Amino acid sequence: MNERSILQVSRPRSSHCRSTERQAGEETSTDTDLFKGRASEREGRDREREAAMATYRPDRNTLLASDSILEYVLETTVYPREQERVRELRLITQRHPRSYMGSSPDQMQFFSVLLKMTGAVKAVEVGVFTGYSLLCTALALPAHGKVVGIDVNRDYYELGRPVIEKAGVAHKVDFRQGDGLAVLDGLIAEEAEAGEEKLFDFAYADADKLQYAGYHERLLRLVRVGGVIAYDNTLWGGSVAMARDTPGSSDYDRVVRDYMVGFNAAVAADDRVQACLLPIADGVTLCRRLK
Ligand SMILES: C[S@@+](CC[C@H](N)C(=O)[O-])C[C@H]1O[C@@H](n2cnc3c(N)ncnc32)[C@H](O)[C@@H]1O
Repeated sequence: MNERSILQVSRPRSSHCRSTERQAGEETSTDTDLFKGRASEREGRDREREAAMATYRPDRNTLLASDSILEYVLETTVYPREQERVRELRLITQRHPRSYMGSSPDQMQFFSVLLKMTGAVKAVEVGVFTGYSLLCTALALPAHGKVVGIDVNRDYYELGRPVIEKAGVAHKVDFRQGDGLAVLDGLIAEEAEAGEEKLFDFAYADADKLQYAGYHERLLRLVRVGGVIAYDNTLWGGSVAMARDTPGSSDYDRVVRDYMVGFNAAVAADDRVQACLLPIADGVTLCRRLK
């Protein structure tokens, strides 16, 4: 999740939808003034609806079109088989005043499946907060797996550490306090010294959004060819596809929105990775390292 108030929006209807409606009308109606009047009325209503929907919604935790769809996903597929300690830490995180920083449970379930599918053994995470995503990752790794968790703030991590211990996966977790870029540089140096560069199978970047390009360069040195790097919040509440002056956005949102627009374009053009941008949670970019 992100470090600002979550700015989620409903998706505006696409212009493709509207032009399809118009074409359907044209096929069945004669070109009368009455039809033109109704069409322009409808287009006016569409524009109003789109304007109303294109407003930041700090109270939502998903880019899905409605909260009930997210509830449906969580209630049917995520919560019923949620591991006991994951649930415990999710609830601790949800009670925290900065709960919006915890990753979305459906996103974590997706990561768990991804980690299992790819057989990941070694992972690194930049941005730990209470350790919710760290715990989910540790649980998805095999018994001999390792996940390095990096955060400038140890106090947040201390909230979740007892739960990680109770879950029986503390031996897999290597928490490092410090700035993400500096700790990643340290890891690169460690791997080089050990002669084992590029040994991570999976990386998750969810710390300082304005450092994503720096994380990308470092993670491409740490993650093996074929390994996966995931970036959180790459749709930034949908704002990347909206006007900069969308109501409800702060100066910081505009800065991050502009940064993400540039970052997404750079990743899409980066021939070192195969990438996709998933509209799950606040937008998750997955990069599979190619070279
Ligand atoms: C969105 S939270 C991480 C949430 C976590 N991945 C989860 O889903 O449970 C972002 C975290 O990044 C940390 N952070 C912010 N800037 C950082 C930096 N420059 N280096 C390392 N950590 C940073 C914050 O202290 C915060 O705990």
